[in-house]
Amino acid sequence: MNILLVGGGGREHALAWKISQSKLCDKLYAAPGNPGIAQYATCEDVKDNDNAAVVELAKRRKIDLVVVGPEEPLAMGLADEVRKAGILCFGPSAAGARIEADKAYAKHLMQTVAVPTAEARIFTDLESAKKYVLSRDHGVAVKAAGLAKGKGVVVCPEPYQAIKPLEEMMDKKVFGHAGDTVIIEEMLTGQEATVLAFVDGVNIFPMPPLQDHKPIGDGDTGPNTGGMGAYSPVPIIDRPTMDRIEREILVPIVDAMKRDFGRYEGVLYTGLMFTPAGPKVIEFNCRFGDPECQPLMMRFKGDLVEAMVAVCKHQLDKVNVEWDSRPAVCVVMSSGGYPGDYKKGHEITGIDQAEALGDDIKVFHAGTAMMNGKLVNTGGRVLGVTALGETIAAAQKRAYQAVEKIRWTGCYCRKDIAAKAIKSS
Ligand code: AMP
Ligand code: GLY
Repeated sequence: MNILLVGGGGREHALAWKISQSKLCDKLYAAPGNPGIAQYATCEDVKDNDNAAVVELAKRRKIDLVVVGPEEPLAMGLADEVRKAGILCFGPSAAGARIEADKAYAKHLMQTVAVPTAEARIFTDLESAKKYVLSRDHGVAVKAAGLAKGKGVVVCPEPYQAIKPLEEMMDKKVFGHAGDTVIIEEMLTGQEATVLAFVDGVNIFPMPPLQDHKPIGDGDTGPNTGGMGAYSPVPIIDRPTMDRIEREILVPIVDAMKRDFGRYEGVLYTGLMFTPAGPKVIEFNCRFGDPECQPLMMRFKGDLVEAMVAVCKHQLDKVNVEWDSRPAVCVVMSSGGYPGDYKKGHEITGIDQAEALGDDIKVFHAGTAMMNGKLVNTGGRVLGVTALGETIAAAQKRAYQAVEKIRWTGCYCRKDIAAKAIKSS
C-alpha cells in the first residue's frame, strides 16, 4: 500500500516508525513530516492543516491509506474528503472529531448515556457564567468549548479565580471563537491517566493505559504544556479497572456516537481522573495522544497498518495486537522557556549516541528541522526520548541515560517522569 501520514510531530514520528515496519507498507509519504520521519518516509511540503492540498497530494501519489495524526484537519473534515476521493482514511469524520473539537457536544453526549464525568454547565453569556461561578463553593475548571491547542482549560481551586479566565475567553477572545461557548465543571481531584482505543464504530480495542505529565515543572508545578513525558502501563489501572472503563465509558460513548452520526473510525483518546468516586472522563480526543503515542508504539508488537486498515474496513474484531510486556517511558526534551517564548535554531547533538545505547531506546523528533545541514530545534517540544525496561524504574533510568547524551543550548526536561508510578508500585 501507499500510505500518507498527516502531521509532523513526535506522535507522527512514532507512527511513521511503526507504519514503515508493516508488511503492508510499500511506500510512505508524510505531510509535512520532520527530520525524524524522513528516515522512513518521503516528506512533502504540504501543511497538515491544508486539507485541500493533502487530498490533492493523496490523489497524485496514488495513496491507498491516509493516516491523520493531529485533531485540526479531522475537525475540518479531512477524513470525509479523503473517503469521498475513494481512499481509506484512519481518523474520524468531522462529526466524530466533534468529540474533541466541541467540548459542549462531548459533555452533552456523555450526559445522555450517563458516562461518569465532572458535573458541568455550559455558557455562551459572560455575565451568567460569572454569576454562576460566584455562586459555587467548590473549585471549578473553566474550559473553552472549541480547539485551543491544549491551552483552553483553567483549573480554579477557588471559584473567584475563574472570573479572569472567563473574561479572557468570552470577552477578550484569547482563543478566538473557541471561547464563544465555555464549560464550567466541578473541579475533580485524583490521579490522571489516558486510555486509547482503536474503534471501528462498533468494535473497541483498548490499548494499555498511559500517564501523561502536563505541567512544565517537576512535581507537576508551573503552567500546562502539550505533555512533558508519558509512560505505560499505569499501576493504578489494574485489569478490573480497565474492564470497568470499557464497560462504563467506552462502550456507551461509542454507541452514543453511532446513534448520533454513524461510525466513529480511528483512535479514541479518553483522559480520565481517578476520583474517590471512581474513574471520570476529563476529556475525549479524536486521535493518538502526544507524547502518549511514543511509549505506546515502543510497546506495540503487531502490524500497525493491519490494525488501521481493519478500523477502516470495520473488521477490528479480526485483529490481534500484541504488546511488549516491558514498560516504556518517554521523556520530552523541550526548548528552554517553553511553554512561553523560546529561542530556535540551536544545533542538537547526541541523538546517535543516545540511540547507540541499545535497541530499547528510540529518540522521536517533534520540533526539529535541518538548517544548513545541521539538526536544530524549531518547536517547544523538541524530542521524545523513549526507552523500554523490565520495570518502570528500569525504563525510566534508561530514558534518562539517553537524555544525558543529547544537548542543545537551553534544552530542558522534567527529571521526574514516571516517578509517581515508581512510588506507587
Ligand atoms: P484538558 O485540556 O481537557 O486535558 O485539560 C487539561 C488539564 O486540566 C487536565 O489534564 C486536568 O489536569 C485539568 N482538568 C480538566 N478538567 C478538570 C476538572 N474537571 N477538574 C480538575 N482538573 C481538570
Ligand atoms: N498529551 C495530551 C494530548 O495529546 O492531548
